Order: sequence, then structure tokens, then C-alpha cells
Amino acid sequence: MNHKEEKIAFRPMEVSDLPQILEVEMNSFSAPWPKQAFYNELVRNQFARYTVLTVNDKVVGYCGLWIILDEAHITNIAIHPDYRGRGLGKATLTYVMEMAKMLGATKMTLEVRVSNHIAQSLYKKLGFVPSGIRPKYYSDNQEDALIMWVTLNDTKAKSGTWD
Ligand SMILES: CC(C)(COP(=O)(O)OP(=O)(O)OC[C@H]1O[C@@H](n2cnc3c(N)ncnc32)[C@H](O)[C@@H]1OP(=O)(O)O)[C@@H](O)C(=O)NCCC(=O)NCCS
Repeated sequence: MNHKEEKIAFRPMEVSDLPQILEVEMNSFSAPWPKQAFYNELVRNQFARYTVLTVNDKVVGYCGLWIILDEAHITNIAIHPDYRGRGLGKATLTYVMEMAKMLGATKMTLEVRVSNHIAQSLYKKLGFVPSGIRPKYYSDNQEDALIMWVTLNDTKAKSGTWD
């Protein structure tokens, strides 16, 4: 199918999405989160907001966020390998940044492996700036995390409600 005919949409993640989320997760990370971790985020964490990206109603990506007062913290973002390199990661992060603004966040942060140049490139394109290193942040290989921050300006988010 021509990409232009595809229906692309974002919506809040639901527990029933978890099998498809795990499929993306297992194909995206060397140390994937287990199902229970996502479940706890959806059911038990009042600060968490998880968004799924669908293409023709199939879940192909997601992004997790914690919003605490005016700070938004990206917990994870991934696009299924079959759908990468088409602007969907950028669209997902842009969407989540707008959502965070509507929920009152004025700045956003994340950690990324120092070796993950693709993700760092995406973040820099959307205005994130490196601000420091968390040494040995990733327990699977003791890799350092690069900390990045962006200020969320209010030029786009003017309408809409989220809960
Ligand atoms: C990072 C990730 C979400 C990007 O998703 P994507 O849909 O492929 O990204 P996009 O197509 O929107 O590309 C956005 C930018 O990322 C960078 N990028 C994407 N693919 C790239 C590649 N193969 N090589 C270099 N840069 C790349 C580019 O800067 C690109 O901007 P451009 O299209 O203007 O050049 C995806 O690669 C992924 O799921 N990776 C595994 C999980 C992961 O590492 N998550 C981040 C954890 S912190």
C-alpha cells in the first residue's frame, strides 16, 4: 500500500495494547521492559501518560511520559523496525511534546544511551540539548546515559484536552 493512503493516528495506550507493545519493545531494545512494567505504568502510576501510534489501526510505536508539575520525562519511545525511517518517530515525539504542553509541562527531559546516535539525532532535531551524563546508567552493559532537555514553548499547543 502507498504510504500516503495509510491512516496514522495517536491515542492513549490501553492494557489491551500490551501484546503489540511488547512486540515493538522486543524488537527495539537490548534490555526490553517486561509486560508487567508497562502494566504498572498504565494502572498504578498516576504521573504516567503512554501514547500509542497506529498505522491502519495496528500499533507500531509508542512513547511513555511522566509529568510531574511542570516537568515532563520521556521514559521510552520506539517505532517497530518495519516502520522506521519514515518520520513516524519524529511525529510521535512531536505529538507527545504538544500533549505535555497541554498538560502544563514547560520543559522535557530524557536519558539516551551514549551509543544511540539515531535517537540522539531525532531528539536534537526537536530541540533537545545535551546537558550531562549519568555514568553507568544502563545496568545491562554499564553504558553511560546522555541527559537531554528541551524547553517546551507555547507556540503550537493552544487547544485540546487530555486526562
Ligand atoms: C529512535 C527511533 C524511535 C526513531 O524512529 P524513526 O521513525 O525511525 O525516526 P524518523 O523516521 O522520524 O527520523 C527522525 C530522525 O531520526 C534520525 N534517524 C532516523 N533513522 C536514522 C538512521 N537510520 N540513521 C541516522 N539517523 C536516523 C534522523 O535525524 C531523522 O531525521 P530526518 O528524517 O530529518 O533525517 C527508532 O529508531 C527506534 O525505535 N529505535 C529503537 C528504540 C530506541 O532507540 N529508542 C530511543 C531510546 S532513548
